[in-house]
Amino acid sequence: MSATSSCRICDDTVHEFIDFGRQPASDAFVTPGEEAQEFFFRLAVGICQTCDMVQLMEEVPREKMFHEDYPYLSSGSSVMRAHFEGLARRFLNTELTGDDPFIVELGSNDGTMLHTIAQAGVRHLGVEPSGGVAELAATKGIRVRKDFFEESTATAIHSSDGAADVIYAANTLCHIPYMASILRGVTTLLAPNGVFVFEDPYFGEIVERASFDQVYDEHFYFFTAGSVDEMARRHGLELVDVERLPVHGGEVRYTLARPGARQRSAAVTALLAEEEAARLTDPATLADFRTRVEKNRDDLMSFLREQRELGRRVVGYGATAKSATVTNYLGIGPDLVSFVCDTTPAKQGRLTPGAHLPVRPPSAFHEEYPDYALLFAWNHAEEIMAKEQAFREAGGKWILYVPTVHVV
Ligand code: SAM
Ligand code: TMP
Repeated sequence: MSATSSCRICDDTVHEFIDFGRQPASDAFVTPGEEAQEFFFRLAVGICQTCDMVQLMEEVPREKMFHEDYPYLSSGSSVMRAHFEGLARRFLNTELTGDDPFIVELGSNDGTMLHTIAQAGVRHLGVEPSGGVAELAATKGIRVRKDFFEESTATAIHSSDGAADVIYAANTLCHIPYMASILRGVTTLLAPNGVFVFEDPYFGEIVERASFDQVYDEHFYFFTAGSVDEMARRHGLELVDVERLPVHGGEVRYTLARPGARQRSAAVTALLAEEEAARLTDPATLADFRTRVEKNRDDLMSFLREQRELGRRVVGYGATAKSATVTNYLGIGPDLVSFVCDTTPAKQGRLTPGAHLPVRPPSAFHEEYPDYALLFAWNHAEEIMAKEQAFREAGGKWILYVPTVHVV
């Protein structure tokens, strides 16, 4: 691959290893009649030759993604609600036990995590630029600053509220290209013995499962323990812990602290060694990933075309941001997948970005079961299959496309 860009962590050269072509903003659901105004960019991924950070080749302006109408709701999954409640309780029992502790969450969305903290009466602040979801959190009694977190925001919060014992971000840090400003902000705001904890999709899982749909505009970085270790060091922080998480198709929770403030856990050393042994970021591994992704693409397209020829009906399940990559990379239109059902009110009645599949509420799925449901929300498979058992009992089947195309 010859295309290059400049690394957002260390300024050296990023070499492209996979290209998904022209793509829309993944959460920009289209009002019927407004298709002509859609924004597109080139979605491709590369790796920095120096710091090994995997990142998008092109950046989408943040205002195109995170605004008043940003539709994603953290509370849309019962598994994720339990996940965040468990973590909030852990923070309350470990990091937030001193006198008047303070926690800041970046990308607090509708307040699913901070809800438990607020109920415990602990000082907190959510930083959330997307107005609609920020207001939802505020109505739950959560303190929210409607803003993008960056260095200036951190300085302002430090002046008004003092240092934070915990700075936390779930599925948000990997969305933010301007990392130098973020990490300067973290070092400004963090208490001397505080922790910066963030969790995001793990590149090791993406490679293993060929889960190419984790690549979309909002996922700018694809972290590994190695690249986070290096990124932390360059910005005056230290990677002190890692934890594998089963959610969202396989994530890692990273804990950063000031150098020497915390002891590095054995889990960090083990994950770094695992990545080395797997040659996770070697060109040969990345080339093999691309080959497997291209096979998944071709297999899924053949399967869908075959169903169309046989007169079978296929419906999509979960109008995920991930599904924008799948539908636009493969060229899936309403002739192959008649609509996508989704519980999110702001997505219903609209068209999926780029591919323009209608989004309908789950009742449309229940009214007339299709022959197949293409599970775009495969990361919530257990939860969804459990509540849609009647679909299987009526003879319906699920189509999955990671790690390979298969029907269950
Ligand atoms: N943390 C929630 C979760 O895990 O369900 C929400 C994740 S959502 C995919 C990403 C969130 O990050 C959005 O609500 C978006 O508005 C927010 N966001 C984007 N850039 C941000 C920034 N610079 N500072 C704080 N939040 C940001
Ligand atoms: P996510 O994979 O980014 O969490 O997005 C999941 C999408 O799937 C979100 O739009 C909500 C939707 N969804 C349903 O429609 N039904 C469900 O049962 C679950 C868990 C999610």
